[in-house]
Amino acid sequence: MIGLRRVGPDEFTTRLDAVLEIYIAAMDPPADQLPGRKTIMGNHALHPGFTCLFAERPDGTPVGLAYGFHGVPGQWWHDVVHRAIAERNGEGSARGWLGDALELAEIHVHPDHHGKGIGRALVMGMCAGRPERTAVLSTRDQPTAARHLYRSVGFVDLLTQFVFPGGYERYAILGAVLPLKGWARQGAAGSGSGPPSTAPSHSGG
Ligand SMILES: CC(C)(COP(=O)(O)OP(=O)(O)OC[C@H]1O[C@@H](n2cnc3c(N)ncnc32)[C@H](O)[C@@H]1OP(=O)(O)O)[C@@H](O)C(=O)NCCC(=O)NCCS
Repeated sequence: MIGLRRVGPDEFTTRLDAVLEIYIAAMDPPADQLPGRKTIMGNHALHPGFTCLFAERPDGTPVGLAYGFHGVPGQWWHDVVHRAIAERNGEGSARGWLGDALELAEIHVHPDHHGKGIGRALVMGMCAGRPERTAVLSTRDQPTAARHLYRSVGFVDLLTQFVFPGGYERYAILGAVLPLKGWARQGAAGSGSGPPSTAPSHSGG
């Protein structure tokens, strides 16, 4: 039996090694990226509105996790994505999607526990009750379980085939209006030019 537990920034920081273990099992990243990744995760815990869920076995061993925070200018991902959406779809669209957004930074489930609904429960749990207008994230632009999962709860493509500065892999930038639609299925964004009408977008340029 796996349970979800809310974890604050202090506990998250002290348990970064356990977090990294799940990240490694789920993503199989190159070993030389791990020290940098750990530093980035530690810094994320300092961001405003940080929230984290551990998916744990009864003995407290985490088998999955998700975390995110309120995106604000000055954060690397926020600024890069804002600029890219503004260039592609206009400043209004960028502000509409990112001006009041929960940024979902990481969602990972240990492969031994895939396909049991843990990932879906983590995404829903992360977004439930959040005050932000939207949720945004990036994920590899491939037909992955993550792509399928996000689409199934209402995320739409804002950018596809996006390469972050200094990177080479292609990512999709996704956004959803909060609250999530739960189990409702929703097609791709179409133009991706702005948030759906249920999301009040910023009127200014
Ligand atoms: C994405 C991830 C968190 C999902 O976790 P999970 O606990 O297995 O997810 P769930 O069991 O809740 O749901 C998985 C969904 O993806 C589907 N799925 C599984 N493998 C798939 C694949 N290769 N292609 C498309 N869909 C797939 C499942 O059928 C299920 O959808 P359904 O509920 O409509 O049947 C997990 O696969 C993972 O950790 N992946 C590696 C790390 C990663 O990519 N993280 C996201 C980074 S943004």
